[in-house]
Amino acid sequence: MVIELMTENSGAKISKYIYGQFSEHLGTGIYGGIYVGKKSSIKNVNGMRSDVVNALKEIHLPVLRWPGGLFADTYHWQQGVGPQDKRQLIVNTNWGDVVEDNAFGTHEYFELLRQLGAEAYINANVGSGTVQEMADWVEYMTRSGKSPMADLRQKNGQREPWKLKFFGIGNESWGGGGHMRPEYYADVYRQYECFLPQNNKKHPIYRSACGPNVDDYNWTDKVVKYAGEYMDGISLHYYTLPTNDWHHKGSATNFPEGQWHSVIQKAGRMDELLTRHSTIMDKYDPEKRINLNVDEWGTWYDETPGTHEGFLQQQNTIRDAMVAAINFNIFHKHADRVKLTCIAQTVNVLQAMLLTKDDQMIKTPTYYVFDLYKNHMGANVVQGIGKTPKDLTYTASQKDNQLTISIANTSINDSNEMTFKPQMNYSKIVSSYEIVGNKMDAHNTFEEPDNIVEKEFKDVLINKDGIIKAKLAPMSVVTIVIEKKKN
Ligand code: AHR
Repeated sequence: MVIELMTENSGAKISKYIYGQFSEHLGTGIYGGIYVGKKSSIKNVNGMRSDVVNALKEIHLPVLRWPGGLFADTYHWQQGVGPQDKRQLIVNTNWGDVVEDNAFGTHEYFELLRQLGAEAYINANVGSGTVQEMADWVEYMTRSGKSPMADLRQKNGQREPWKLKFFGIGNESWGGGGHMRPEYYADVYRQYECFLPQNNKKHPIYRSACGPNVDDYNWTDKVVKYAGEYMDGISLHYYTLPTNDWHHKGSATNFPEGQWHSVIQKAGRMDELLTRHSTIMDKYDPEKRINLNVDEWGTWYDETPGTHEGFLQQQNTIRDAMVAAINFNIFHKHADRVKLTCIAQTVNVLQAMLLTKDDQMIKTPTYYVFDLYKNHMGANVVQGIGKTPKDLTYTASQKDNQLTISIANTSINDSNEMTFKPQMNYSKIVSSYEIVGNKMDAHNTFEEPDNIVEKEFKDVLINKDGIIKAKLAPMSVVTIVIEKKKN
């Protein structure tokens, strides 16, 4: 079976923001995992862990969503600015019922973004906040010159306004964000959006509405119908669980073979969800002006035994790498509508890129998939014609004379081959890397941090007719970058 790659046509551009991430005040996702404070013995710059920042820079993290999640709907930004020792203590009622000191607030978030070179995506508090509170926060962040909130920001040490690129109005407003009905939420959204200050006329803030829970198609229908004209994007949340039972989701490691297959199959459901939600949006927005973003996705397992309840700490295995690859391949397929996604969550929480313990840090298999896929950022999707062999999933894109092909082999036991014939002659392999699992729950630990690392992928050949053949090991993800023949 040969897949013909339609390199003569230019597909949709893959927005780099598809590779976004999410960091919530949840467990050690921020405190300990990213932020340790200036006085910590862990190496840091202005309180941010240097190991974590450097690792995230390597994968070109483009955007980081903050402060939640459910936490966003209990967050009052004024409590998190000003001298750190005077900030108000708060109870994180959603996550572990712990008391936190608000040491990581707006200024620290933008400092983190500065170090990462990433864009801001802030989620407003719609559930328990007010329209005024939101308007003040945006004034605080984005207004230059003299104004009550700009003055307060300057008093707190930041002269220039920050760039706020993305702004979410509501998080899971159908659930923990207010138990709203879609008709009601659509009106609430309209009200908040109406008072969102657009201080930077050259770069208006991107307005993101709370979208559906999984397959709640009625939510999408009503919210886009009644509020679509006031939004730039709407966000879907979909998590991959091994079982259908939120009380017994399944373990991250040491799981039965059936749960390998259920996770692979459920990750693939993202395609159906995006197709159906997008079709509904087409009714009101046939031009596809409004984006369908997925600002929470990833695996969700039972918490690691012995960890703090509510901290959502889980290991990350080669199975998670499969889920990441499957999702990216689907997001690319829908690149005309999907412009931003955020995996949940960056460090120590759910499907994390990085795990930390005191001053140690390890990279997870998911981290390496982000690394393998980074050449797709900003490239144009290349459509493939032909039947994809069983257990394989792939994506292809081209930019700057380079064709990038990523493939995942989800088979537990079998090597599998894929053959591609690009319309144009791409003949020189520039780079070719893989990650491979030797068992279903292969993963890295603090004792053995290099069980899964990227290594050169050698089983790829291009013949004189430009036909590319790659043979993938079981449970592996590869990326091959090929350049055009020079005339
Ligand atoms: O990512 C964890 C939680 O999942 C988020 O806080 C919430 O939005 C979702 O239910």
